[in-house]
Amino acid sequence: MTESHFPYLRLRRTRSAGFIRNMVQENTLSAADFIWPLFVCDGSNKTDPIASMPGVSRHSIDQIVVQAKMAHQLGIPAIALFPKTPDSLKTADGREAVNDKNLVCEAVRAVKAACPDIGIVCDVALDPYTDHGHDGVLGDKGEILNDASVEILVEQARTLADAGCDIIAPSDMMDGRVLAIRDMLEASGYENVMIMSYAAKYASAFYGPFRDAVGAGRKLGGDGKKTYQMDPANSDEALREVGADIAEGADMVMVKPGMPYLDIIRRVTDSFNIPCFAYQVSGEYAMLNAAAEKGWLDREAVMHESLLAFKRAGAAGILTYFAAEMAEKLAR
Ligand code: PBG
Repeated sequence: MTESHFPYLRLRRTRSAGFIRNMVQENTLSAADFIWPLFVCDGSNKTDPIASMPGVSRHSIDQIVVQAKMAHQLGIPAIALFPKTPDSLKTADGREAVNDKNLVCEAVRAVKAACPDIGIVCDVALDPYTDHGHDGVLGDKGEILNDASVEILVEQARTLADAGCDIIAPSDMMDGRVLAIRDMLEASGYENVMIMSYAAKYASAFYGPFRDAVGAGRKLGGDGKKTYQMDPANSDEALREVGADIAEGADMVMVKPGMPYLDIIRRVTDSFNIPCFAYQVSGEYAMLNAAAEKGWLDREAVMHESLLAFKRAGAAGILTYFAAEMAEKLAR
């Protein structure tokens, strides 16, 4: 191949006006790219702002329904629901996770009744329900037990599918959980319930504000979640995680956090033919907002640029707290 060179090659020609920049744009954003995470709290007609996530609140179920309808109108295909479980219901074994009348199940039913066409994604992990804040259950020495956790997580997934959840999203990082959940779904007549596995989920400090939002895990001692979530130093291992989850029956995979891990999204999408989603997590949202509040960054511009970067990296879609705002802006 002969490469043309200066002056025949002038890359600035196709940047010289808006119309041509639009014509040669390689990636675009649309509302259909977003999954909107929402936090559910108890009570009614309640909107409870989360200090470390400016613009994001916990909503009681009646208000979650309002948010879901708004998301649907904006063209956002799915929401992800996360409960803030009252402390009085938290136990060492996280058994509130399998209560079919828990906050998240009631929210799923209410949204499905009022807005049947929006997709609902629910986390499978015990951290909103355990008094210690881990995603699984503990052994005698405080270690996180893999197989015993998987047993409970399967029951949690069943409870969510029973409530009407469309996409089960295991975020617990136990080994073998996708296979166990898939087996349960097949055996229970839920062959169309999807699994979006948090396949490459890193032990990240960027989850801090989320842990405030659901009131779990800020106080984890010792190794924190490092014995199950991935080491931020690793990248080959992410491909092994993704390969395992696909083999176990995942329909979609996720990389999390987002912006600091764009290289992982690119490697996953280059290596596998499966939709790969990115989670722009709470700490990323907090960081961009804090700088914007100080006047150091242009909020709308960094929101757009950061989300477009996920598409460029190969993501099929993005879980982002900016979803509604960005969708509104795109519709203007
Ligand atoms: C629960 C879970 C977490 C997030 C999503 N699901 C926190 C964690 O693993 O500690 C983080 C999302 C965010 O920070 O926005 N397992």
